[in-house]
Amino acid sequence: MGWGKYVPERVVTNSDLADMMDTSDEWIKTRTGIERRHIAAESEATADMAIEAAREALAVADADPRELDLVIVGTVTPDTCMPSTACLVQNALGAFRAGALDLNAGCSGFVYALAMGHQAIASGEHDLVLVVGADTMSRIVNQQDRSTAVIFGDGAGAVLLRASEGPAGVRATALGSDGSGGDLLVVPAGGSAMPASAETVAQRLHYLTMDGRQVYRFASRTVPRVIEQVLEKAEISLDEVDWIIPHQANLRIMEAVAKRLHLPDAKFYANIDEYGNTSAASVPIALCEAVEKEYISPGQKIVLVGFGAGLTWAAVALEWGPSVQEISAVFYRRWLRWVVYRWADVHTRWMRFARSSGTRAWLAAKRRWRSLRRKRD
Ligand code: UT7
Repeated sequence: MGWGKYVPERVVTNSDLADMMDTSDEWIKTRTGIERRHIAAESEATADMAIEAAREALAVADADPRELDLVIVGTVTPDTCMPSTACLVQNALGAFRAGALDLNAGCSGFVYALAMGHQAIASGEHDLVLVVGADTMSRIVNQQDRSTAVIFGDGAGAVLLRASEGPAGVRATALGSDGSGGDLLVVPAGGSAMPASAETVAQRLHYLTMDGRQVYRFASRTVPRVIEQVLEKAEISLDEVDWIIPHQANLRIMEAVAKRLHLPDAKFYANIDEYGNTSAASVPIALCEAVEKEYISPGQKIVLVGFGAGLTWAAVALEWGPSVQEISAVFYRRWLRWVVYRWADVHTRWMRFARSSGTRAWLAAKRRWRSLRRKRD
């Protein structure tokens, strides 16, 4: 019922990169389809971008953030190992009653998270779920490795799911993984197996390494299979599909997948030229852009498909709903969201102050407040 995206302002073109390393606009364009990418400012991290995208999704749906039940953020570049980026998003949105968790499934993170969000609603447990894909890949890319430095960009995308009875929405999901390929796309250091040390930093082991050729082969073989699998589950034929929105890793992968499925390239939405590979953010950014450009209309059948580190792959088949096009923001709710976001900020500052000051008065007030609430209940 809502969608939003955020990309940083700063644009780095292929020519800019050619000035910094041994590469060329020609090589990058012909091998990947990328022309430029958006790179986060020093002050920006994954949660900042995720919050922007989430607020846009809530505005499109004209929804009240306080009603959110669950926030899931697909990411491989959380702000910190702990707490989760989803908790930072939940707090900044003022989603005070929502559960929050990060989901690491490499570049498939958003599609995995969407499948989980859908299941949370289908189980009857939750009504309103926010699903975000966000990554600041520029923070884990080794600028001395031209085979990865030219590929990745930063950004975030979000969708809002609400329980409904209509035919529109998620029709089927398919997930897969193969940990034997874990070494093909990996950030070796910084985890429990190889904690950060002066040595790991000196050896640049906190950066991503990728066997591009192997990942390329894996994607070209696996993506057509998972698309067919999810369509079979959804009882939708390949001919009925209006759009395939794939992870934007390489234009040649999209063309290879189209060829294998005997589909025209035009059915695959591609915006890799503008953003590069934004990891878990690439599918929701592409979905948002396709909707904003009015390429997607009510009743259309769409497949979202992701693949990446793990190795992982995932697909979601959905029908775009008529209701989502008809929402118009009510002024008072726009104002209410503004107030909730400001309040969330004030609340955080107050709680941190109160906890750190640890005064007797504060603790006593808290005890009194709790006992009053217990009496009221
Ligand atoms: O989102 C996660 C999933 N990731 C992916 O799906 C990535 C999948 N893989 C790919 O997209 C491609 O494998 C790449 C774009 C990463 C690389 O394209 P490729 O056609 O597989 O190139 P390659 O790695 O086989 O390298 C070909 C040549 C090499 O030179 P030699 O050994 O043939 O002399 C590389 O050193 O291109 C060279 N090369 C470059 N040259 C100019 C590698 N990177 C660059 C560069 N500029 N940036």
